[in-house]
Amino acid sequence: MTHDTSSFDTWLDGQQLIVAVGPGGVGKTTSAAALGAYAASRGKKTLVLTIDPARRLASALGLDGLSDAVKVVPALPALSAAMLDTKSSYDDLMRRITTAEHADRILENPAYRAFSKTMSQSHAYVAMERLHYVTRKEREDDAPTYDLVVLDTPPTSSALDILDAPGRLARFLDERIVEWFLATEGPSARAVKLLGRALGSSTVEEIVKFFQALADLREGFASRAQETIALLREETTAFVLVTAPRTTTLAAAKTLHEELSSREINVDAIFFNRAFVPEPGTFLPVHAPEEGGDELAAALRTVRAEVYGQNAHAIGEMKKFVTRASSQNGAWLLPERDADVRDVDELKGLMGSVVPLTAV
Ligand SMILES: Nc1ncnc2c1ncn2[C@@H]1O[C@H](COP(=O)(O)OP(=O)(O)OP(=O)(O)O)[C@@H](O)[C@H]1O
Ligand SMILES: [Mg+2]
Repeated sequence: MTHDTSSFDTWLDGQQLIVAVGPGGVGKTTSAAALGAYAASRGKKTLVLTIDPARRLASALGLDGLSDAVKVVPALPALSAAMLDTKSSYDDLMRRITTAEHADRILENPAYRAFSKTMSQSHAYVAMERLHYVTRKEREDDAPTYDLVVLDTPPTSSALDILDAPGRLARFLDERIVEWFLATEGPSARAVKLLGRALGSSTVEEIVKFFQALADLREGFASRAQETIALLREETTAFVLVTAPRTTTLAAAKTLHEELSSREINVDAIFFNRAFVPEPGTFLPVHAPEEGGDELAAALRTVRAEVYGQNAHAIGEMKKFVTRASSQNGAWLLPERDADVRDVDELKGLMGSVVPLTAV
């Protein structure tokens, strides 16, 4: 017997973009991939953009190897997946938005290389650019379009970076610092010269060239940022908060929920991953150890009572959580598996076993 997933399916069918956010290590990447596999098995052409998937999961998605190019999952052709790798995504971005000659100049620029590898928010930014690219309605290339895109995110704070990234880069490009570097006369030009003496003029020249190239692209960055911000607030975009049913993790999830709210982002659904999921129709009584039997029977009763006690406690915690951190389309339990997810069928099966919290 399985639980009824029809309301979950209806919700999923209405989404075009799902962003999985949550504290570290709770199963965001697994849930994102499982959502993708489940949606694809329901006939939606789906793309999962993952970040740093566990090795088994990467191979389940056909993503072995280092490239971050989009690949069709052989075992489920409606599903495609890509890993987001900051450096190569940046290079692709530069190639998409500039002429070949311009792109070569930027890609070879040492300041650009350092920037694309190390800028703390660059990952978030490039994830947004990638999202903008794969969800675009009008395309001038022949890259495929998708019914659903599922975006995985790095742990908590970076998930918020992703929300803030488009606006931040647009602001950065507008800020004085760029102009300061680009001035050809006046005090800042003199300062740049001085800086050149300190750092070596070729280093400073590279930096100036890099800012010059960015400044030329300013308008494009700004308009894509606007479109991405709008996309994240579309009716068909859903934020899914993934968490584990443990007290400390729930506290981190609560903070994240508040930070999303303060950015006027509603959480659409909450996934309690690695939860104990009872069989349909059963309840979770905390059995009082029965009397009688031998020593072994008594020991088993004690263990059972303890496990039931822990599960009942976890369910209580989850129910308390949803009274304080609401979601528009319910809270769902994803069962704990004995081992890592190894293939697409297991991924599909994981999402197919969701249970509404209201059922336990
Ligand atoms: N329902 C589950 N049952 C059993 N194992 C699971 C389940 N969900 C996730 N795992 C395992 O837990 C580990 C962490 O999962 P995952 O990488 O998806 O978490 P994450 O939230 O993306 O982590 P990070 O914040 O580091 O990106 C993996 O080894 C994964 O296989
Ligand atoms: Mg992850």
